[in-house]
Amino acid sequence: MAKFILNGEPVEVDADPAMPILWVVREKLGLSGTKFGCGIAQCGACTVHLDGQPVRSCSTPVSAAEGSEITTIEGIAGAGGELTVLQEAWVSEQVPQCGYCQSGQIMSAAALLRDNPTPSDEDIDAAMSGNICRCGTYTRIRRAIKVASGQLEARAEEA
Ligand code: FES
Ligand code: FES
Repeated sequence: MAKFILNGEPVEVDADPAMPILWVVREKLGLSGTKFGCGIAQCGACTVHLDGQPVRSCSTPVSAAEGSEITTIEGIAGAGGELTVLQEAWVSEQVPQCGYCQSGQIMSAAALLRDNPTPSDEDIDAAMSGNICRCGTYTRIRRAIKVASGQLEARAEEA
């Protein structure tokens, strides 16, 4: 039995201690926002926070979360579902293309902004380098992070 906090709620789940967190949250707990990409800690699609730090959930056993706090993309909005400033920026800058990598991108960006509220381009590149986007949305990702950090104006809404 694995016990941890998931998106603010205590959870007990019958899972092998070696099962990756990704499988636990998707298959056992039904939270499908976290994606399976490579399965070998190379693409970042599966990024969640473990005690606030971004980790590759495909390659992190649930035993590593025992007594700890896991946050997934489903857990970063406000209690009433209101979007964070970062999520608002993702919308205003129309970042996603296919969308597959995007929950992992947002989780890495959220951790970056918590630790560094006004990151430079170099800071962003360093923090986001482990998150691959096969659609090539990198320019919009960087822009959204700059908007969320108050360094750029959000794009005006189109009429
Ligand atoms: S699915 Fe985990 S890093 Fe690619
Ligand atoms: S938006 Fe398609 S992989 Fe990133």
